[in-house]
Amino acid sequence: MNYQFPLERLSAYQTPFYYYDLDLLTQTLDCITKEASRYGNFHVHYAVKANVNPRVLSLIAQKNFGADCVSGGEIEAVLKAGFPANKIVFAGVGKSDKEIRLGLRTGIACFNVESVPELEVINQLAQRQHCIANVAFRINPNVGAHTHANITTGLAENKFGISMNDMDKVIDMALQMKNIKFTGLHFHIGSQILVMDDFIALCQRINELQDKLEARGIHLENINVGGGLGIDYKQPDKNLIPDFATYFATYAEHLNLRKGQELHFELGRSVVGQCGALISRVLYVKQGTNKQFAILDAGFTDLIRPALYHAHHLIENLSSDAPKKRYDVVGPICESTDVFDKNVKLNETKRGDIIAIRSAGAYGEIMASQYNCRKLPKGYLF
Ligand code: LLP
Repeated sequence: MNYQFPLERLSAYQTPFYYYDLDLLTQTLDCITKEASRYGNFHVHYAVKANVNPRVLSLIAQKNFGADCVSGGEIEAVLKAGFPANKIVFAGVGKSDKEIRLGLRTGIACFNVESVPELEVINQLAQRQHCIANVAFRINPNVGAHTHANITTGLAENKFGISMNDMDKVIDMALQMKNIKFTGLHFHIGSQILVMDDFIALCQRINELQDKLEARGIHLENINVGGGLGIDYKQPDKNLIPDFATYFATYAEHLNLRKGQELHFELGRSVVGQCGALISRVLYVKQGTNKQFAILDAGFTDLIRPALYHAHHLIENLSSDAPKKRYDVVGPICESTDVFDKNVKLNETKRGDIIAIRSAGAYGEIMASQYNCRKLPKGYLF
């Protein structure tokens, strides 16, 4: 399939804005469902942090995905979008009392707990609300990932999860608590991972931990391996739908699941990344000393990934087919890091041209800010 920009419709909207291709999102969701359902016990939760556009969320809910939330705000957003509470998991190192109460009151499927003090608070609050909280422990597996350092999460130096050495102790504590039901283990080693060996290393670690627990007579109902599958930012059109077949097959082959055990995934970027593009107009083309700048009306307030992670996004001029020239593509924000990319080959560009910054469906609109008193970008889905 091809990513087609409906240029006429796009021209009608005030730039900058996010455009989401409904067909591509639908096909991606259907592909995930098809590939995961080859294995009867695989369950996919959409990692809501990647994109909470209400129409994106409700389509994902209609396709029967679960939701992985990291705040009370996300829980409210997914309930509103139609996700059932019993398909919501709630992670995060710093859950507030109010957020925990919301999770308990609405009856979410599971709290992914990241520390002993958090476990104690959940037990207390569940006692006060006369309910039982399902709890999985997020274990820091000390497994590296071939990705940007800022989005690696599974190393001992990261703030996430409970260390493997403390695992037995916290499980024993949980088993003693009256208002806690211990259900399993949770992991997440990082994001934008394209090397399957990283996921294999995680599987091996989980196998070791599971053997250890089993020797102590502890059985896990479910294992949650988080998300992390990356997308092709360089050549999105070649790989509009990530290789979910290989991804799920990797886990099926390398993880020793026990009979009746469920395997949960929390996929964000790979679900929504390729369906979105940031659409912007060229305000000015400016001749610099040794280069030309294409100055857009979008800036890092609309898409912060290049400034924050040196992330690469393919940039295209949708309204020109003149021969290509080189430009530094920049935004209007008063900061030198407000650069989308340097030395980019674009069809010759002039004021008013429409520019697409591709693969921006994940961690784009949701990470926008109002710095410089700018308006938040809107998102349209068609
Ligand atoms: N589960 C947990 C516990 C997570 O922390 C994350 C992402 C996910 C699942 C989803 O990971 P994904 O499938 O999307 O890789 N803003 C950064 C990415 C931060 C990811 C944070 N955690 C970026 O723009 O690259």
